[in-house]
Order: sequence, then structure tokens, then C-alpha cells
Amino acid sequence: MNVTQFRRTILAHYRKHGRHELPWRETRDAYQILVSEVMLQQTQVERVLPFYTMFVKRFPTARRLADAPLSEVLVAWQGLGYNRRAKMLHAAAREVVARHGGAVPRSVSELERLPGVGPYTARAVAAFAWNEDVVLVETNIRTALIHHFFPEDEKVGDKEIEAVLARALPKGKAREWYWALMDYGTHLKRSGVRVNTRSAHHVPQKKFAGSMREARGAILRELAAEPGFASRSNLEEKVRRKIGTERHAQIAEAIKTLVAEGFIEKDGPRYRLAQ
Ligand code: ADE
Repeated sequence: MNVTQFRRTILAHYRKHGRHELPWRETRDAYQILVSEVMLQQTQVERVLPFYTMFVKRFPTARRLADAPLSEVLVAWQGLGYNRRAKMLHAAAREVVARHGGAVPRSVSELERLPGVGPYTARAVAAFAWNEDVVLVETNIRTALIHHFFPEDEKVGDKEIEAVLARALPKGKAREWYWALMDYGTHLKRSGVRVNTRSAHHVPQKKFAGSMREARGAILRELAAEPGFASRSNLEEKVRRKIGTERHAQIAEAIKTLVAEGFIEKDGPRYRLAQ
């Protein structure tokens, strides 16, 4: 398939089957788009929807998020998973206020300097908030490109994908183009196309059951449900009951790293979410 045919296929699919009602596609607000892109990393659209709506209602601007204590942000994030994202987003909002007067910076390189904002997220904000002609690669986009342009290749690098994307992009229409491309990639996956194992950048999902991430998540969930401090013994007991009594050492290690990383605070033998 050549890029002209590809472009037509993607845009025709979008006109018929595009997800035109996603709330983050109805705003041009760079902060709210940043929130959505952070949530959509590693999490399916359907799961993100209620969290996104609640979150932007509660924290409608970078300044409002920056002014909130971390504990409040972590409470709002419970159920979405990968709590590091909440902490990074909160830190990013604080930088936006401290260094950019409360407005999300407009250039990709400035965006990339914000905590938790990598090459993908920076370019996604540039495309969806400002309709900039950037080259954007994520999992659904990889699916579409590998399926149509690299049908036989075993290790497809993002560099090769980016070269095709740069030619395929309809100039001045990045916003709609990438919405369309993501929807098409999602459609291919739902139709059973499984090509991302042939991406050189494919990261297999790690097991959650038994993992340190599960232990850390369970601790944060308990503390998020607790208005004040929890005693260490109470906290450990509750977490063990949720994830397994044999995981004593792992839970202790998880508490230690959560304190060290600034997710939770310790006051003698008592713990709470970091304020
Ligand atoms: N629309 C805008 N960004 C998106 C994303 N990352 N996933 C799905 N739909 C989107």
C-alpha cells in the first residue's frame, strides 16, 4: 500500500467509525489534553473515561492541580492504577505554574522537560492541542503502520515507522489524522490483528499478581481510604489481607520505597499519604 491509499483508508474509516465523542477530543485545552494522555498511557479508553471526566472537573486547570496536596490527587487516581503517573502529573502541574505562569508550554522540547512527559506525550499535546505537524508513535499507531507497511518484517524500529508517518501526515491536519490513525489501529486490534510483537519497541505486559507494583498499589489504596494517619501494624495487616499473608517482606519493602519516593509520609510508627 502507498501512503496516499493509506491516508484514504484511515480517513474513510474515521468518517464512518471514528470515536467522535471522546471528551478529550472536545477540548483544545492543553492542560486537559495532557491529563488525558497521561491517563491513556497503559490504560484503555473505556477505563479512562469516568476518571478523566471526574479529574478535570475537580482539577480544571494546571494551577488548581498544583495547589492541591498530593494526597488529594492520589485519592482521585485510585482505581486507575500506575500511581506514579498521578505523582508525575501533579509535579508537572507545579512546574507549569512555577516556570510557565500556569500555561502549558507550547514547544515540544519545553513539554519534554516536564516530569513524566516523554517524547510521545509531548508530541500528543502538540498535535491535539495545537494541531502541530508532529510525528507521533504509540501502540495503536504502530499496529496500523506495521500491518500495512511492514507485513513481513520481524523487528520494525520506530525510526522506520516515523519515516512512513512523516510522509503520510496530511499537513495542517495532524489533530484529526492522529485521532483517525489511533481509531484505525484500535479497530485492527479488535479485529484480531496482532502485529506489535514485531515492533522492536514492543514491551510485553508484566505480570501484576505478586508484583511490587501490586503491593505498592494496595498500600496506597488503603491509605487513600483512610482520612488521617494509619498505624504501621494496622496498615500492614489490611494490605496482607488484600494481597496475601505471606508477602510480609515485600510489603515492608514497598512501604519503605513509597516513603523514599515521596508518595507517603511517616510520623513515628504512623503513615499517611504525602500532603
Ligand atoms: N484520542 C486522543 N488521544 C488518544 C489516545 N491516546 N488514545 C485514544 N484516543 C485518543
